Amino acid sequence: EEKMVKICCIGAGYVGGPTMAVIALKCPSIEVAVVDISVARIAAWNSDELPIYEPGLDDVVKQCRGKNLFFSTEVEKHVSEADIIFVSVNTPTKTRGLGAGKAADLTYWESAARMIADVSKNDKIVVEKSTVPVKTAEAIEKILTHNCKGINFQILSNPEFLAEGTAIQDLFHPDRVLIGGRDTPEGQKAIQTLKKVYAHWVPEDRIICTNLWSAELSKLAANAFLAQRISSVNAMSALCEATGADVTQVSNAVGKDSRIGPKFLNASVGFGGSCFQKDILNLVYICECNGLPEVANYWKQVIKVNDYQKSRFVNRMVSSMFNTVSGKKIAILGFAFKKDTGDTRETPAIDVCKGLLGDNAHLSIYDPQVTQEQIQRDLSMEKFVWDHPTHLQPVIPYGLKQVNVVSGAHEATKDAHGLCILTEWDEFKTLDFKRIYDNMQKPAFVFDGRNVVDASKLREIGFIVYTIGKPLDAWLKDMPAVA
Ligand code: NAI
Repeated sequence: EEKMVKICCIGAGYVGGPTMAVIALKCPSIEVAVVDISVARIAAWNSDELPIYEPGLDDVVKQCRGKNLFFSTEVEKHVSEADIIFVSVNTPTKTRGLGAGKAADLTYWESAARMIADVSKNDKIVVEKSTVPVKTAEAIEKILTHNCKGINFQILSNPEFLAEGTAIQDLFHPDRVLIGGRDTPEGQKAIQTLKKVYAHWVPEDRIICTNLWSAELSKLAANAFLAQRISSVNAMSALCEATGADVTQVSNAVGKDSRIGPKFLNASVGFGGSCFQKDILNLVYICECNGLPEVANYWKQVIKVNDYQKSRFVNRMVSSMFNTVSGKKIAILGFAFKKDTGDTRETPAIDVCKGLLGDNAHLSIYDPQVTQEQIQRDLSMEKFVWDHPTHLQPVIPYGLKQVNVVSGAHEATKDAHGLCILTEWDEFKTLDFKRIYDNMQKPAFVFDGRNVVDASKLREIGFIVYTIGKPLDAWLKDMPAVA
C-alpha cells in the first residue's frame, strides 16, 4: 500500500476551487488543501456562501469540506506538506512594461514558485494548472532548481478545460485530461503519479500524456479555436443582416457537416470571460516573439471581429432609436459573460453599457447573479487600452447615477425606451413580454444580443425587434447602422 498522497492547490479561484473540490470528492484517500493569499476568499470558501456561483458546486463542497478538503490561508504550511502542488493563480494580461496589452503577467506565478522553493523540504511535483505561455515550465524549473537545496522538483503541465457555468459537469466528465511532462524517467514517473489521481474517475483513454510544450500550447490553441468559431459565426451574422439570410439557419446548415460539428456556433453580441481574449493576446505575443507575424495577425483578427461585433450592436441600438439614446432609459437584462455564472470578467455587457453611457443613456441593469457592487465597479473602471484599435466609444467620465442596478426584469424595463438582452439566462425566455411592453415607452425596442426571444411573438405584441444575424425589421432597414 502506497503512502497517502497530499495535494495542495495555490489559488482558490474559479479553477482552483471547483477542480480541487472534485478531486477531493472522487479521491477520498487523498487530502486536498486549497490555499490563497486572499483572506476574504478563503473565508467565503469556508462559509455557506461560496465565493463563486457554479451549478452543483455547493453540493460537492459540502460533501468533502472538513473531511479531505480544506480551504486555508496557511499557504506555506500546506505547500511544505504536499506531494503534489497545483498552481492555479491568475495570469492576467500585462498592463505595463514589455509586452503590455498582450503578454501574460507571470508575477503571481513567479512569486508562487519562489515560495515553493523556499518552504519545500522534500521532493515535489509542481503542476501548472493556470493557463501559461508555452515554455513557462522552463522558467519555473529554473526558479525551483536554483533555489532547491538538493530537492527534486518535477514540473507538469495540466491545463484546465472546464467552462464556467458547467464546471462541475465538465470536471466529472471531461472530454480529456491533458498531462505534459519531461521525457526523462523522473518526468514520466511524475506523469504517472498525476494520472493515477485522475484515473479515480476519468477513463484511461481520456487521459492524454504529452511533452510539456505540447500541453502548454494545447490550452492556448483550444481557446483560440473556440473563440475563432464564435468570431466566425459573428462575422457571418453581419453578412446575414445585410443580405436577409438568417444566422440560425446558416449555423444549423453549416454545423450539420460532421467535420464542423453543431456546437459553439451561436451568434451573439460577442464572447467574454476571463480567458479567450487574454489567451489569444498571449498567443499573438508568443507568435510575434518567435518571428511569426503572419500567424500573429491571423489570431489577432479573432479579437478584432469580437470588438467589431460589440460596437456594431451599440451602433445598431443607437441608430434605430433615432440616432440618440441621450437621456433615455435603457433596460439591460443580463450582465454576466454567459448564463449560470456570476462572473463578469471581460463580459461584452461592459463594452455595450459603456458605449450607451458614452451616448448619455440611463441604464437600468438586472442580472440574477451579479451584485450591484460588481456592476458599478465594472462600469466605473477605465477600459484597459489594448494595442488593437477598439471601435467603441472612448469612455467619457460619467456619473454613476446614470447606472441603476435593480432586482428584476419588470423593474428594469418600466418606462424604458429599449430593452437589451446581453446574457442568455433561461428566465429571460419566459418573461411576460406583453406586460413589459405595456409599461415601456413607445415605440418600444428589443435588442436581443443572445438570440433568446421569439422575435415574431414580440413583433405581434408591438415591439420593434433586433436580433443579431436575423432578417431586419423594416424599421431597422430604414435606419442603417453606420459601422
Ligand atoms: P482567479 O483570479 O479566480 O483565482 C486566482 C486566485 O489565485 C486568486 O484567488 C488569488 O488571490 C490567488 N493567488 C494569486 N497569487 C497567489 C499566491 N502567490 N499565493 C496564493 N494565492 C494566490 O483566477 P481563475 O479564473 O481561477 O484562473 C486561474 C488560471 O486558470 C488562469 O491562468 C486562467 O487562465 C486559467 N483558467 C481559467 C478558467 C476559467 O474558466 N476561469 C478555465 C481554465 C483555465
